[in-house]
Amino acid sequence: MVAATGSSRDGWSSRSAFILAAVGSAVGLGNMWRFPAEAGANGGGAFVLFYIFCVVLIGLPVLLSETLIGRHGQASAPESVRKIAAESGRSSHWDTLASFGVLGAFLVLSFYCVVGGWVLYYIGVFVQDVFATGIAGGAFEGRPPEDIESLLPGLFSDGMLMVGLHAVFITITFYFVSRGVSSGIEWVATWLMPAFFVLFLAITVYGAFTGAFSEALTYLFTFDASKLTGEVMLAAVGQAFFSLSLGVAGMMTYGAYVGREVNLAGTSGIIAGADTAVALLAGLCIFPIVFAAGLEPNGGPGLMFQTLPIGFQSMPVGSLVGLLFFIMVFFAALTSSVSLMEAPTAWLKEKANIGRPLATLVVTIGALLLGILAALSFNSMADFQPLGFIPLFEGQGMFDVLDTVTSKVLMPVGAIMTALFVGWVAERRLIDSENGLTGGLEKFWLFLVRWLCPFALIIILVVGIFPSIL
Ligand code: PHE
Repeated sequence: MVAATGSSRDGWSSRSAFILAAVGSAVGLGNMWRFPAEAGANGGGAFVLFYIFCVVLIGLPVLLSETLIGRHGQASAPESVRKIAAESGRSSHWDTLASFGVLGAFLVLSFYCVVGGWVLYYIGVFVQDVFATGIAGGAFEGRPPEDIESLLPGLFSDGMLMVGLHAVFITITFYFVSRGVSSGIEWVATWLMPAFFVLFLAITVYGAFTGAFSEALTYLFTFDASKLTGEVMLAAVGQAFFSLSLGVAGMMTYGAYVGREVNLAGTSGIIAGADTAVALLAGLCIFPIVFAAGLEPNGGPGLMFQTLPIGFQSMPVGSLVGLLFFIMVFFAALTSSVSLMEAPTAWLKEKANIGRPLATLVVTIGALLLGILAALSFNSMADFQPLGFIPLFEGQGMFDVLDTVTSKVLMPVGAIMTALFVGWVAERRLIDSENGLTGGLEKFWLFLVRWLCPFALIIILVVGIFPSIL
């Protein structure tokens, strides 16, 4: 495939390849697993509507800023930032901000692959079920719901199995990233994302006709201002960033492989729109089943892994639907984990001046080891709470610490820095030539990155981390 960047650098072969890869990065476990869990844990409507507000007014302008930095710099995230700062006659220290982003991507990668391992486990469970009972009836025929629910705690109690599955998932990710951008990452996105969308639409349409659809609609979209606490706001903004792959250098890295002919504002809109639509549809797929089965919506991380499989029990051809569902989640997770691995890989490759396979291997081994600690925090290392003395991390084992530190600290801080950098540091001429916007829209975007994003994020961070202030 031909690199679109015009030089010998590896890059996306076309605009649509970039869109598929970026949508692939955005759509993942964040939409299917984390969004319903967070929406349920944070009371539904107020969280969801504030999340949409964050996507449009904060996420989208930051997404455009990140891809713009990447494309102008044509290098790893810190190097792209450094180049733009130098061209604008500013201090090169700004690249430190992007280095934190690279670290953030590495941290997310480590626990993301652990959850990827759970998905592999459920694929195995449903394959077994298809063989055991055939595809005609519902899933897990004749087994009580408690039995189905206990599959996840069963997995959690088996540290070795969790570590093994995590290792398998990260190895698959390693395989594609080590092959490079156009022939590895792009290949995954071009084949797996369309397959994901077909399966996803089929399951959502199916879900809409079963279960308590209107109850789910009311739950997800009724705004109750009293529920919008500082913690809920921080959770919503964190979810918006996590879902759009922002604040951790991921989109900057992908932006570096985009050709000059691509309109970044337009493609950012497509990426954010597709990502948000999938999250909302995932909610509309999972919550009707939750309500129809009389289960609690605040099931947290267990919603996708415990509640949904119970729903598959009462569906015709439920074993097959369940199997397809988890295969689809696996595709979505893989197109995200490759982007998480790419950010530190591109940085290391450039920094240490080593080849791609070696850089990928080093990142993989590091994330594998850190992920093992995360996997064991569900069993043998449950009592290891490294940051438990800080209220934000109270009672959290390694897995939760990695999730909280990235989504509630590194991502919002990374986004504030990105907005400030593009809004105030980078030279206007350079920004104007990259953003693909004109007239009033460009002015509005500049207002958002200069003022609204940094201020809103600082306030949300403060009230979210120190709720007693309110
Ligand atoms: N956006 C991905 C998801 O929703 C996760 C991700 C976060 C990917 C940050 C890259 C960077 O699953």
